[in-house]
Amino acid sequence: TRTYVITGSASGIGATTAETLRTRGEKVIGIDLRNADIEADLSTPDGRASAAARATQLSDGTIDAVIACAGISAPIPATISVNYFGVTELLTALLPALRASDAPRVAVVSSMASLQPNSPELVDAALAGDEPRAIEIAEGLAAQGALIGYSIYPSSKRALSRWVRRASISEDWAGSGIPLNAVAPGTVLTPMTTELLATPEGTQMVDAAVPMPLNYHQSPESIAYLLIWLTSSENTHLAGQVIYDDGGADATLRGDDI
Ligand code: NAI
Repeated sequence: TRTYVITGSASGIGATTAETLRTRGEKVIGIDLRNADIEADLSTPDGRASAAARATQLSDGTIDAVIACAGISAPIPATISVNYFGVTELLTALLPALRASDAPRVAVVSSMASLQPNSPELVDAALAGDEPRAIEIAEGLAAQGALIGYSIYPSSKRALSRWVRRASISEDWAGSGIPLNAVAPGTVLTPMTTELLATPEGTQMVDAAVPMPLNYHQSPESIAYLLIWLTSSENTHLAGQVIYDDGGADATLRGDDI
C-alpha cells in the first residue's frame, strides 16, 4: 500500500483520483477547503503550513506520492495564490515526508490554458517566489475587468509548468530521487466547467480556445489515470515534463513549435 496526499480531493479531478486510488487499496489523505481528511485553505501561507504538518502527521512521516489538483479559474488574485503558491509551497513543505519513502513521486495539474495569453510580469513574480508582488500584479489585472482578469489563470498555470520544469532537475527533487511532473488537461467535465458549458455560447467560446479533435471533452478519469501512473513506482525516469493530455489541443494550437 502506498500513501498518497491529494489536494482538491473533494471535487472533480482530485475526487476521481482519490476514489480510484482508494478502490485500488491505496491509502489517500485528501486536502480541500471542505469534505476532506484535512480541511485547509491553500490560498494562505498558514493554510499551506498547517495542511503540510497535518499530512505529515496522518502519514506517520512517510508520504509516497503527492498529487496536487486543487485550483480555481476565477479572474481574482486568489487564483495565483491557490494555483501556484498553494502547490509549490505545499510540495516544498512535504519534501521531508516524501524523502522518507523508498519510491516518492509527485504530479501536479497544470492546464493547456498555460499556452493562452498571460502576464509575463505575473509569471516572473510567481517564479521569484514573491507572493505579495504577485498578488499586487493580479489585483491590477483583476481591476481591468473579467476579460483581462482571466489572464491570471493562464499566468498561474504557465508559472506552475515552468516551476516544474526547473525544480524537477534540482537537488531538492531529482537529487532526492523524486520524479516531478505536470499534466496539462484540455476541457474536463467537472464542476469547474459545468456553468461555462451549460450554454451553446459558453461551449462555443471554450471550444474555440481549446480545440479537441480527439474524443472532444474529457472525463476526470482521463486525467486521473495519467496522474496515477506518473506517481506509481513504475515511473522511474519521466521528470520535468508537462504532459498535454488534452485531446490534441496543444498539437492543434502549437503545431511544430516545440
Ligand atoms: P473542481 O472545481 O471540480 O475541483 C477543484 C477543487 O479544488 C475543489 O474541491 C476546491 O474546493 C479545491 N480548492 C479550491 N481552492 C482551494 C483552496 N484555497 N484550498 C484548498 N482547496 C481548494 O475543478 P477540477 O476541474 O477538478 O480542477 C482540478 C485542477 O485541474 C485545477 O487545478 C484546474 O485548474 C485544473 N484544470 C481543470 C480543467 C477543466 O477543464 N476542468 C482544465 C485544465 C486544468
